[in-house]
Amino acid sequence: MKVQIITLFPEMFTGILSSSMLWRAQSKGIVNYEYINLRDFGLGPRRQVDDTPYGGGDGMLLRPEPIVAAIEVAKKQDPSACVILPTPRGSLYKQSEAKKLAASDQGLILICPRYEGYDERIIHWVDKSYCIGTYVLTGGELPAMVIIDSVVRLLPGVLGGEHSADIESFQADDKTVEFPQYTRPETFRSYDVPKVLLNGNHAAIDVWRKQRQSRSN
Ligand code: ADE
Repeated sequence: MKVQIITLFPEMFTGILSSSMLWRAQSKGIVNYEYINLRDFGLGPRRQVDDTPYGGGDGMLLRPEPIVAAIEVAKKQDPSACVILPTPRGSLYKQSEAKKLAASDQGLILICPRYEGYDERIIHWVDKSYCIGTYVLTGGELPAMVIIDSVVRLLPGVLGGEHSADIESFQADDKTVEFPQYTRPETFRSYDVPKVLLNGNHAAIDVWRKQRQSRSN
């Protein structure tokens, strides 16, 4: 899967994409990350990417020309890719969406907005827009990382068999979570492992675990 990231801050991704599973996915050839620096498409000698909002208001908005030019370059490299815009105005991002993106043959193009937002006309070049939670972040880079992480780990061959995604939180229905787990020691600073997990009664363990597979809020 080709993952192209349109951003003013490619360096924000280097830590996360060069560590652990996300790096392993790239080194195994399962995924290929590429950065497209939005500044390269800026206008004029100062490579300007932002401007003031029509109608007044605080802050600066990303102009449409640099973003659309960057999308067009990304599309040329991967014409069938899905263009994703992280935005608080998007639909709530869930595990079921991650599963759909991972299961499709399409590559991903992620746009990372900055400043106070973007010119709304860019949505004509966008296939999906997602909100990753009801809080505001300073830009689209963290949401893009969340989306990339949640999709790439589901691609075949990224998680080893011992880490199968099938029994994980939200995998079944966006609601069911994984039960709590314990390892040694049996008692840690006066806190004990639940007794039911120690006696080898697998029917009782299954019941105990099932009772703990829903979120408390
Ligand atoms: N940009 C800023 N906040 C965001 C959020 N919660 N989800 C997606 N994109 C965002």
